Amino acid sequence: MGKAVEFTKINKYFPGVHVLKDISFSVEEGEVHALLGENGAGKSTLLNILHGVYPEYEGEVKLHGKKVHFKDPNQAIVEGKISKVHQETLVVKDLTVGQNITLGYEPLKGRLVDYGKMNKDVNEILKDLDCNFKAEDIAATLTSGQMQMLAIARALYHKSTIISLDEPTASLSQKETEALFKVVQKLKKDGVTIMYVSHRLEEIFQICDRATIMRDGEYICTLDVGKTNRDELIHAMVGRSVAAVASRQKPCRKQDEVVLKVENLTGKGYDHVSFELHKGEILGFFGLVGAGRTETMRAIFGADKRLGGKIYIHGKEVTGSWYSTKALKSGIGLIPEDRKTQGFLTLSSNIDNIAIASLEKYMKGAFMDPKQQRANAERYFKEMDIHPNDPDYLTKNLSGGNQQKVILSRWMSTDADIIIFDEPTKGVDVAAKAEIYRLMEDMLEEGKSIIVVSSELPEVMGLSDRIIIMCEGHINKEFNRDEFKSSDEMLDYAIGGN
Ligand SMILES: Nc1ncnc2c1ncn2[C@@H]1O[C@H](COP(=O)(O)OP(=O)(O)OP(=O)(O)O)[C@@H](O)[C@H]1O
Ligand SMILES: [Mg+2]
Repeated sequence: MGKAVEFTKINKYFPGVHVLKDISFSVEEGEVHALLGENGAGKSTLLNILHGVYPEYEGEVKLHGKKVHFKDPNQAIVEGKISKVHQETLVVKDLTVGQNITLGYEPLKGRLVDYGKMNKDVNEILKDLDCNFKAEDIAATLTSGQMQMLAIARALYHKSTIISLDEPTASLSQKETEALFKVVQKLKKDGVTIMYVSHRLEEIFQICDRATIMRDGEYICTLDVGKTNRDELIHAMVGRSVAAVASRQKPCRKQDEVVLKVENLTGKGYDHVSFELHKGEILGFFGLVGAGRTETMRAIFGADKRLGGKIYIHGKEVTGSWYSTKALKSGIGLIPEDRKTQGFLTLSSNIDNIAIASLEKYMKGAFMDPKQQRANAERYFKEMDIHPNDPDYLTKNLSGGNQQKVILSRWMSTDADIIIFDEPTKGVDVAAKAEIYRLMEDMLEEGKSIIVVSSELPEVMGLSDRIIIMCEGHINKEFNRDEFKSSDEMLDYAIGGN
């Protein structure tokens, strides 16, 4: 087998930063090759160079032994036969699946689009990928997992020989992830080369053959996955050892006092949800994607309307209309799961983005004190190790995981004493995960109480004093920490067992 991709001395500069430094390594034809590294290491940037998103760079890229230099992603797909599947796949929602997959390259009959052939060709690919949707379906009806399948189908429509997946499973359910892995295995069997980026190391051991590790824009090493282990990978990524599993380092602080009580909360996606949160506790909410956890939390925070049920904060019932600014004033904060919907990211500096939910804290008399804002931002930059370490940097230019850390900092800066984290470590690297867990424990020490919604069982099991398992909009089971046994048991309740 030859080499599918060869990088030689790749250098990439953004204004003021040298993000890729002399990167050289190669990817074998037909292998699943992982690209690993901390947030900001340069993984996405390297893939963007490969796929023509960044046409300006130094160094050489070869595909199947031939030098290439793509000027845009389209050229990469059509001429280079190389496709990238984004985490948030771009689809035109009003068009059908078939139209999306063939967009710009529709089969023609004379000068008209041949829809019959389009749908037939596309359905063949979808069937081959074992997809449960059809070329004729409108794209708006697809789940995020199905949209990724659509993107892979598009890659196959263009006969791609190399496909990159950048954090593909971050917003997939367990089932969708399994389906994706099956497809990856199948593509591999058909001789397609896969480049795979993920912060979930267990996935690397499940599907990858070799792994290249990057650190601070530099190439560190390439390892055979079969001959390495989790600790070695982490050490190569971070340059030191990190406690990579979620765990509690400090004693339990759960008290009798109930800070939040929810009774029969009902709304779109959840039904008669009742629970209590105690002071000083970390209460985990586990469930599969779509179990109603996010919807429940958004209603508690007043981000969405509830249809029924009562909310008590520090013993006082919430009355009248309930919205987020009110919730924040009563001491509840919600850190939402999706950093992409945080529109402000395109606008401002890290300092502004961190300060925006806690502005009253930085007032000096009637005026805003920028020094205090800066000091607050600097604190979180240090504690969460945000890269580059520059609070004045524009947030939109940070890597995905570092943007996530900025959002966490924003909500941790508020005075809220009940904090709801929705998927706090999505897209965050192993070292930063550990930092976030430590910050949560610090918050408990300050007398705060925490709800963690997470789809990662090791995370909820490692962190929580208590776990509530939701399934299809209902609470199915509750476990105290001393009752946590196996993840299989938890998973069983999450899929509806009892
Ligand atoms: N448009 C840009 N302008 C300036 N700097 C940028 C730009 N895009 C990326 N960077 C910087 O390049 C570095 C590498 O970012 P990249 O997105 O490649 O990291 P990554 O390894 O994919 O991280 P993550 O795991 O968080 O996704 C980061 O320090 C980032 O701040
Ligand atoms: Mg990235």
